[in-house]
Amino acid sequence: MTWLLLFEEWANFLLRWVHVIAGIGWIGSSFYFIHLDLSLRKREGLPEGVGGDAWQVHGGGFYHMQKYVVAPKSMPKELTWFYWEAYATFLTGFALLVAHYYMNAEIYLVDKTVLDISGTTAILLSIAGLVVGYSVYEGLCRSPLGKNDLALGAVGFAFLVFLAWFFTKIFSGRGAYIELGALIGTAMVANVAHVIIPNQRKIVKALLAGETPDPALGKAGKQRSVHNNYLTLPVIFMMVSNHYPLAFASKYNWIIATLVLVIGVLIRHFYNEGHAGRAKPWWTWAVSALLMAIIMWLSVAGSAIANAAAPRNVQFAQVQDIVSARCSMCHAKEPVWDGIAAPPKGVMLDTPDAIRQHAKGIFLQAVATRAMPPGGNMTDLPDEDRQILAAWFANGAPGI
Ligand code: HEC
Repeated sequence: MTWLLLFEEWANFLLRWVHVIAGIGWIGSSFYFIHLDLSLRKREGLPEGVGGDAWQVHGGGFYHMQKYVVAPKSMPKELTWFYWEAYATFLTGFALLVAHYYMNAEIYLVDKTVLDISGTTAILLSIAGLVVGYSVYEGLCRSPLGKNDLALGAVGFAFLVFLAWFFTKIFSGRGAYIELGALIGTAMVANVAHVIIPNQRKIVKALLAGETPDPALGKAGKQRSVHNNYLTLPVIFMMVSNHYPLAFASKYNWIIATLVLVIGVLIRHFYNEGHAGRAKPWWTWAVSALLMAIIMWLSVAGSAIANAAAPRNVQFAQVQDIVSARCSMCHAKEPVWDGIAAPPKGVMLDTPDAIRQHAKGIFLQAVATRAMPPGGNMTDLPDEDRQILAAWFANGAPGI
């Protein structure tokens, strides 16, 4: 083990650790404030400038929350801001994108059967995707369309569906999902960094100057905050999807992404309505369950090999030959593939026992989907061989 590898591995792990913690902090506080905002009630006797209050109990204490519409008359001495969670999520997320996807672009971002591009081209396209995608979103919000929340939401949604489709025509399924997730995440952080927080600062400045803050500032912040609220669940789906080839490597991956966007909105709508004290729209769960069933069906619908798999007589030796010819150059104790320093995900496929132990993984990655071999079938695993793997799995993955 070289020092460089040791450092790389730990840097990667630490980044992921911080990324997840920052993400929990950010999404947690954002869910909390959405809930708080919706649960505030107007009542008699509230102090001047207070639009509503709410009582909460947590951790052994009672809290009395009051929301000032626009702002209090004078600035409190101490004020807690919430932005570092969002910024840290972005910084660590972008570092991970570079460390994981850009450093191994040929394996992770490119799929030669989708589009024959080099790793460098894929990286440039990925960066361009983030910049252009975000600029279009920002442009839409600032255009006259931005005055109509519903119309903006509909156009924004259509734009995301287009991107989901477009990215799957450029990148590998894995790459397309991470690109879409990274773009949505970037837009969400940018909403905090470029609109919500700066507007809040302007409000504070106006207050300190003894002026009345412009209510439009708060309104714009609120609009972005609502966008973030509806995008939270899908973005997390995209981020954890890379462990599940049935989602990202399905032929219909972009439709799956679209349905996930819809589910994310529906589930948030359920909670938003409930928090606001209105009747909970239980139908959203029924529709989400239906969409989820469609997703499950779509995830294998495009896989002729998985669906045709019937038990037939194959020898384990055939399976072993296929795996050692197409997989074990990466999946071995000491991989021989350039750029792969250790067996990916700890998956070693270099002994009969190891192959049998990973039968399910082999099926999911190389039969039900074409996630492996990566990079768009880098080691040229032919369909006939996938069929042999399929039959072996259908037989219950027997050994010698
Ligand atoms: C070019 C190198 C390479 C080849 C060849 C390769 N893999 Fe992989 N494999 C990877 C990488 C990289 C990952 C880790 C993906 C990730 O980060 O999620 C991986 C992950 C896996 C996993 C674990 C997935 C998970 O998320 O737990 C399985 C199972 C797997 N590969 C099976 C196969 C099979 C079967 C073959 C041959 C048909 C194969 N691989 C060929 C590089 C390779």
